[in-house]
Amino acid sequence: MNNALSALASQPSLATPVYFYDMDLLDRTINAIRQAIPSDSFHVHYALKANVEPLILSRIAQAGFGADSVSGGEIRMALDAGFRPADIVYAGVGKTDAEIDLGISLEIGCFNAESVEELAVIAERARLAAKKVSVALRVNPDIDAHTHHYITTGLAENKFGISMERLESALQLVTRSEWLSLKGLHFHIGSQITTMEPYRILCERINSLQHHYASKGILFDSINVGGGLGIDYEHPDAEPIPDFAAYFNVFDRYLELRPGQELHFELGRSIVAQCGSLVSRVLYMKHGLEKDFVILDAGFTDLIRPALYGAHHLIENISSRSDRKAVYDVVGPICESSDTFGEKIELPETQRGDLIAIRSAGAYGSVMAMQYNGRQLPGAIFG
Ligand code: LLP
Repeated sequence: MNNALSALASQPSLATPVYFYDMDLLDRTINAIRQAIPSDSFHVHYALKANVEPLILSRIAQAGFGADSVSGGEIRMALDAGFRPADIVYAGVGKTDAEIDLGISLEIGCFNAESVEELAVIAERARLAAKKVSVALRVNPDIDAHTHHYITTGLAENKFGISMERLESALQLVTRSEWLSLKGLHFHIGSQITTMEPYRILCERINSLQHHYASKGILFDSINVGGGLGIDYEHPDAEPIPDFAAYFNVFDRYLELRPGQELHFELGRSIVAQCGSLVSRVLYMKHGLEKDFVILDAGFTDLIRPALYGAHHLIENISSRSDRKAVYDVVGPICESSDTFGEKIELPETQRGDLIAIRSAGAYGSVMAMQYNGRQLPGAIFG
């Protein structure tokens, strides 16, 4: 068990459900990334969608990373946390005019455009503001990232990005517009990717695209390969810091960067997931006919990943001192059967009042919380 978490168990008045963030682990993760970056051409952006706790954002901004936003709201949060406008990129298939105007007026680093139709709107908004705008084209490379189908984004039938077939006309639109400046190409093939093979294939896809366009005289200042590096949900304490060196090494080895070309990453989960746990109190031990239920005061309104994706998170009883083990279904209080964090989970013998930690919840946890059933949003504490 994580030491910072076990210290929590001695606080009898802890208000739950609450996200606990191990800031020391966050710092060590950030340092590991900085040390693993193999060259000055590599630039890491943090994907805000994973977690927007102001304290976490400011730590990441202080480390010198850029920001990857998907809405006007996230652009503002990035600014408030200290990210420089020039280091903010903005992606998303449905940017509103107001959001585009915000990005233009703040002079953010780059719009990652997802369709030819959107490019035309960005060009028009840029003309109205009389400001030239940098855009990258999000290309849908049609690569299977072998992850959950809800979080694979680079397949041809996906709503994300511009298909290879339409890339030509998108490039023409940008190069002909006096209001758009072509910054580069953007890719993102999916999330929670645990093998390096999809990334090697992505590198090859990018190399052939670059060769093709170089022969037509089109060069890109930057390549953005998105995010997606996975984490170990089964054993969060075994290697809490993902193998960033192995990840960067794939790009260093297989991607043919042109002289002076920048390589951008948009990492979310791999930076913040392991430092967060959802801590909850046991409300009731309910003895069913065939199984025993642990009923928590946390539900899918606080952490939706198990209900939405069938995602596995390690569940621990951080307060029990019992040597005896038992098997439980760990569930929440919400009026939906999907409000289950885990079935047949072995825990030390558990009682009403015990504290339960649901681990690896720092990414896509609190940001996806909601108020269904009239519930309050979970709090946050930092250790
Ligand atoms: N860049 C783009 C364009 C993205 O769409 C995403 C994530 C990222 C970067 C960051 O990916 P990461 O490094 O965190 O894998 N709610 C889901 C994950 C959705 C990911 C959406 N896009 C979950 O809980 O697994």
